Amino acid sequence: MTSLLEARGITKHFGGIKALNDITFRVKPGQIKAIIGPNGAGKTTLFNCISGVLKADKGEIRLNGESIVKLPPHRRAAAGISRTFQNVAIFPEMTVLENVLVGRHCRSKCEMLKAGFRTMSMRREEKDIEDKGWSFLEFVGLEEQADKLASELPLGDQRMLEIARALATEPKIVLLDEPAGGLNTKETERLAELIHQIRNSGVTVLLVEHDMNLVMDISDEILVINFGKKLAEGDPKSVKENPDVINAYLGEDIDFSDL
Ligand SMILES: Nc1ncnc2c1ncn2[C@@H]1O[C@H](COP(=O)(O)OP(=O)(O)OP(=O)(O)O)[C@@H](O)[C@H]1O
Ligand SMILES: [Mg+2]
Repeated sequence: MTSLLEARGITKHFGGIKALNDITFRVKPGQIKAIIGPNGAGKTTLFNCISGVLKADKGEIRLNGESIVKLPPHRRAAAGISRTFQNVAIFPEMTVLENVLVGRHCRSKCEMLKAGFRTMSMRREEKDIEDKGWSFLEFVGLEEQADKLASELPLGDQRMLEIARALATEPKIVLLDEPAGGLNTKETERLAELIHQIRNSGVTVLLVEHDMNLVMDISDEILVINFGKKLAEGDPKSVKENPDVINAYLGEDIDFSDL
């Protein structure tokens, strides 16, 4: 099957630190794929190279077969890659709905919030953007919080809001960086359900996550990186039985035999 996303030989150094060293992997359309690895393994750096926040030193990245390595972040977003951040990145002084509308921008012809004068077609487009915004809020279950300031939401809801904003760009693939970080058990269960719903809606999911129960539960495939290098790749069962993976996590209090 053709890959939706293909990364080949991604290498990124920060001074003397080899954050990523020749990482190659693929994501098939419709997959839920997880990237795991101990702290500092290079997971976020890999997301940054894919979304264009960072420029890889070497390597090729293709979306639907087209090279995107030379594109700036907003053009990668327009091409169909959106993401959330490890430390929630929302606009705290904007309302919940406004935060989602920001995500619609890369799909709108007139930039609603900047438009100084408004034609009929602009007004129609604004209405359309707002309707879509509501639909994404409903999708993550935040429609009743629409008028609140984003800063007033608890962390779990802020993570949901950031996901809604990422989905509002109508991506082909969404990159979620530790979406379960700071969530309680109930919120994590809700997140697992939401990730399935995202995939079922036709959006491919690539996530970085430390919660091994969640990863093993929802992933079709897992990529393991350690010290910037690919350590293993495969289905959850093969990954959790892989001795190199178990070794890499030694001392991290994860018992793979329980998963
Ligand atoms: N902007 C930067 N400048 C210098 N070094 C960096 C930068 N970003 C990341 N690093 C280093 O690159 C390595 C990989 O970091 P990265 O944040 O990608 O790890 P990670 O796998 O996401 O870790 P965590 O699980 O803790 O989030 C680390 O050694 C980190 O200190
Ligand atoms: Mg990280």
